[in-house]
Amino acid sequence: MDRAIQVRERGLGDTPSIEHIYLAAFPDEDLLPVVRELLRETRGVLSLVAVSDDAVVGHVVFTICTVADGAGAVALLAPLAVLPGWQGQDVGSAIVGEGCRRMEEVGVDWVYVLGDPGYYGRFEFAADDGVDPPYPLPAEWRAAWQSLGLGERAVPARGKLWVPQPWRQENLWSA
Ligand SMILES: CC(C)(COP(=O)(O)OP(=O)(O)OC[C@H]1O[C@@H](n2cnc3c(N)ncnc32)[C@H](O)[C@@H]1OP(=O)(O)O)[C@@H](O)C(=O)NCCC(=O)NCCS
Repeated sequence: MDRAIQVRERGLGDTPSIEHIYLAAFPDEDLLPVVRELLRETRGVLSLVAVSDDAVVGHVVFTICTVADGAGAVALLAPLAVLPGWQGQDVGSAIVGEGCRRMEEVGVDWVYVLGDPGYYGRFEFAADDGVDPPYPLPAEWRAAWQSLGLGERAVPARGKLWVPQPWRQENLWSA
C-alpha cells in the first residue's frame, strides 16, 4: 500500500463520492441504478468504503442471498470499484478482504462473484458450477462465475442463487 487507507462501513454522506467512483471506474457501464438501489437497502447488505484523508477512494457491496437447497448462508460480492488514481495500490484487496472477514464473522459460508478470474483468483475465488447464477449467463461469461468458501467448515452449496430485489434485473447478468 503506497498511501494509507482505512476501511469502514459507508455513511449516508458518502453517497456522492461512491457514485463518482463508479462513474470514473466504469465509464462504459451504467452501474449507478443498482448501486443506488443497494445503497437504499437497510438490511442484508454490507457496504464498505476505503477512505484516505476523508476522501472515499473505493467501494464494495456484499449482499446476503440464499441458495435454494437451504445450505449455509451465502453472499454476492458486487459491485466493486476503486477510483482510477488509486487502482493498483491494494485498495480493492483491502475492501474485499475486510468484507470477506466480516461476512465470515456473521456466519456467511460462501461468497459468489461475477467478475474477472484474473482478479478474483488472487483471493482464491474459483469457478463455481454447483450454484447457478440467478439468470443464465452468456457462455463466454461462465468462467467469470466464481465462489469462495469462508472458513474451514464451509460446505459448497448446490442449487440456484436467490438474490434480493436490487439484483433481480436480467440485464445486470447478461449485458
Ligand atoms: C478491479 C479493481 C476493483 C481492482 O482494485 P485495485 O485496488 O486496483 O486492486 P488491487 O490494488 O487490490 O490489486 C491490483 C492487482 O490486480 C490486478 N488487476 C486489476 N484489475 C484486474 C483485472 N480486471 N484482471 C486481472 N487483474 C487485475 C492489477 O494488475 C494488480 O496486479 P499486481 O498486484 O500483480 O500488480 C479496480 O482496478 C477497478 O475498479 N477497476 C475498474 C473497474 C473494473 O475493471 N472492474 C472489473 C472488476 S472484475
